[in-house]
Amino acid sequence: MWNRVEQTAREVFGGFGFGEIRLPIFEPTELFARAVGGETDIVSKEMYRFIDRSEKLERNPKIRNLGRFIEKVKHLLKSGEIPEVDATEVYLEHAEESWKKVETALLETAGPEHLLDDIDELLAYIGAMQLGPDLALRPEVTASVCRAYIEHGMHALAQPVKLYYMGPMFRRERPQKGRYRQFYQIGAEVLETVRKEVASGEWLVASAKDAATDAEVIEMVMAYFARLGLEGVQLDINSIGHSAPACRRGYVEKLKAALEKVKDKLGADSQRRIETNPLRVLDSKLESEQAIIEKLPRIGDHLCADCAKHHAEVKRQLELRGVAYQENWRLVRGLDYYMRTTFEITARGLGSQNAVCGGGRYDGLVELLGGPPTKGIGFAIGEDRVILSLQEAGKGGAAQGRDVYIAWMGEKTLATAIRAARDLRQAGFRVELPPVEQKFGKALGQADKLGARYALILGEDEVASGQWTVKTLADGTQGKYSEAGLLEFLRKQKS
Ligand code: HAM
Repeated sequence: MWNRVEQTAREVFGGFGFGEIRLPIFEPTELFARAVGGETDIVSKEMYRFIDRSEKLERNPKIRNLGRFIEKVKHLLKSGEIPEVDATEVYLEHAEESWKKVETALLETAGPEHLLDDIDELLAYIGAMQLGPDLALRPEVTASVCRAYIEHGMHALAQPVKLYYMGPMFRRERPQKGRYRQFYQIGAEVLETVRKEVASGEWLVASAKDAATDAEVIEMVMAYFARLGLEGVQLDINSIGHSAPACRRGYVEKLKAALEKVKDKLGADSQRRIETNPLRVLDSKLESEQAIIEKLPRIGDHLCADCAKHHAEVKRQLELRGVAYQENWRLVRGLDYYMRTTFEITARGLGSQNAVCGGGRYDGLVELLGGPPTKGIGFAIGEDRVILSLQEAGKGGAAQGRDVYIAWMGEKTLATAIRAARDLRQAGFRVELPPVEQKFGKALGQADKLGARYALILGEDEVASGQWTVKTLADGTQGKYSEAGLLEFLRKQKS
């Protein structure tokens, strides 16, 4: 199942001109904080972070060098090369004090024996400091794709650059059906650096080309889901405008004011979000808040002319491509980098965790991370959920089956059976060759259990006459074929 889901993605995305990018499992925490947003749940609560060992400091400093070592730690902390961790600062203070005692005593030329306790303490403080870079297991990889795009100068490649990826992501969420702490995404991104002459002006202005790209990316995911046979697929789209005062920023102010008025009627989470991220209130699933949310101002009524035009063009382009969609003004997404188009796709058989794909446009993200002005649009699919949904629909099994089970009898036929297995495998068939001779009835039973389509029956008579018996297991019919005739028969059946 996993292979089929991934192989189909390679085929469909390849057909749209996408190439694969392989990304690291962990990156500096700062990358995700900047791209996804420090206030988002993903960054503030769900990342698996760790402090690595430092490469800037020696691992086991000699006692006589500890004074210098401590000075260096202080310097690196100040320059931001060591992460600011409260514990490190406390330990550093202790270490400094402790070192002063040791240093003074050492200078007093009394033998060092009585200092051993102090030295042990000092080394413990140093050992407890967190001095390396602050890293995180990736909670998503749009940030990594942009980082790689900048680091490898991909703006110099033919534009746009179309990339896809697949692999594990990590979020410390409450596990339930369809929601895991290590889960798998299949995603794709289209990046296009804007030419300099445009960049010097208002490069964030939407062009008709952008809308066509949005629609094609969505068309690609939908084509992929159709190829997989995913059931109950529903596409929701929205536009969240761009960050100008005359667009989203103005809307968020209005939304905030409206939320303040109904604050007492909202739950604790939404009350908190009025301050931190009012748009996320729209995402609330709390029953008691639904009627209130429906009456709030809607982003669609507050888009600037440019974003409104873009949204209308995306819809027209989707219609041109025969992609059915539903508008959902409450679709805001939980990552900060989005602008204009956002979309989400749900599928059947998944309960509350039914989003199988989320994505949107993120013009400006590459620039935010230190690259050139670049437009971007992409999505990520929850592979675990796609597989769950396919299994629920009874589309789970089959891949384990065999094309041919070779039922051979008599030691003299083994050499022929081995050769037949090799030739059939070379021709691309899935073949099971039992290692020891079996009774005829047992062999056919085993072929059936393995889901084989044909049994090739090889006894001494068949080997002697060169006419091999083939039984079609579904209907029990039988035929005799020469070696070459057998291959031809199987090939015809397959096509
Ligand atoms: P996202 O909406 O956070 O977007 O995740 C995309 C999909 O990953 C979700 O729709 C869901 O199917 C799956 N997913 C998320 N969390 C879990 C989990 N804990 N367990 C199982 N599946 C999960 C992003 O990650 C963006 N980077 C998408 C994107 C790419 N936007 C632009 N380009």
